[in-house]
Amino acid sequence: MHILILGGDGYLGWPTAMHLTAKGHHVAVVDNYLRRRLCREENVEPLFDVPNLHERVGLWESVSGYKIPVFIGDLADWEFVKEVFQTFTPEAIVHYAEQPSAPYSMLNRRAAMLSLQNNLTVTANVIFAVREFSPDAHIVKLGTMGEYGTPNIDIEEGWLEVEHNGRRHKFLYPRQASSLYHTTKIMDTDLLWFYVRTWDIRVTDLMQGPVYGLFTDETADDERLFPFFNYDEIFGTVLNRFVVQSVAGYPLTVYGKGGQTRGYLNIKDTLNCVRLSLEQPAKAGELRIFNQFVETFTVNELAELVQRVGNQLGLNVQIRSVENPRKEAEDHYYNPAHTGLLELGLKPHFLTDEILAQMLETVLRHKANIQEHKIYRKVKWS
Ligand SMILES: NC(=O)c1ccc[n+]([C@@H]2O[C@H](COP(=O)([O-])OP(=O)(O)OC[C@H]3O[C@@H](n4cnc5c(N)ncnc54)[C@H](O)[C@@H]3O)[C@@H](O)[C@H]2O)c1
Repeated sequence: MHILILGGDGYLGWPTAMHLTAKGHHVAVVDNYLRRRLCREENVEPLFDVPNLHERVGLWESVSGYKIPVFIGDLADWEFVKEVFQTFTPEAIVHYAEQPSAPYSMLNRRAAMLSLQNNLTVTANVIFAVREFSPDAHIVKLGTMGEYGTPNIDIEEGWLEVEHNGRRHKFLYPRQASSLYHTTKIMDTDLLWFYVRTWDIRVTDLMQGPVYGLFTDETADDERLFPFFNYDEIFGTVLNRFVVQSVAGYPLTVYGKGGQTRGYLNIKDTLNCVRLSLEQPAKAGELRIFNQFVETFTVNELAELVQRVGNQLGLNVQIRSVENPRKEAEDHYYNPAHTGLLELGLKPHFLTDEILAQMLETVLRHKANIQEHKIYRKVKWS
């Protein structure tokens, strides 16, 4: 399949590009280095440098023999999008190309506007490009479990059958996000759903939980192929942050009561979920939604797990509850369905002590790079 990966330089985009080529697909990657630029601007660079996208593609070709064309440019710019779609006509598109951080979107007005404009414009451009240049192409869009918020009822996979005054109708599951970033993802879903109904495009929306990890089958131990690994509060996901905090001797920052429950997944599972969705596409005129995670943890559970495994490795891991900078429920009901991807064939990688130990050992090798002041800056919601 000819697959265009939008955001191909990102934490998930680069490993996805390697994975899909290794599975026999033809892949091109597109990125404008927005993630790298925002990290530099906010002084929160990842734990170790990663080569630029051209260099990564060269390294991967030397290791695997697979070639990946690179397009560097802004997907919010229609002329650039046109050029990409006309040069590499895709049968499928993986759309990762967004500003992906909740705290970044809450920093200030400028960051909020960047998140809104970038995320919605890129999504709209992708829809228009598919309509104009590849009308049968399947869009696999990364959404987030955060779109649903934490309602006091079970969370279904995307849709809810509602009975009202004796009549029934199926709606998108009600969504109420707790950051502006997550709200842009809700707006993305609304845009996609509108054009699915109007133009019969085919879309899979993957409502993903926080991802952790560095290793995939394609990177193996070759650190030159690793994705970004952010450990700061803005771009680092929680488990990745806790691992670095343990190594740095910095108490794990649990926000408030720590009862916040979310669905998590290993980066290897992200790659498999995306590939399985591509290989078994949505139908024309279908918005197919899967909840993409494999197990749930409270923040306290994650912190205790990291503490136990870290201490086994000789670290002295402390946990500290800090005043919650976010506006969110700290203790709530959480029961989301997640069977769709298992039915497509996903074989989950659960969070084991061995996986955590492997992450801790990798970070220990880069301990000298950790800059403590980058770990926690208290980006407040209000
Ligand atoms: N990482 C997670 O835990 C997680 C969880 C849920 C959902 N997601 C979603 O998955 C997607 C990928 O996340 P990630 O962690 O890899 O983020 P990332 O920031 O590492 O990757 C996104 C990539 O898109 C690029 N990009 C953004 N805007 C662009 C534009 N206008 N033109 C060209 N390139 C652009 C960025 O430079 C970056 O390389 C995002 O949409 C995110 O919202 C991620």
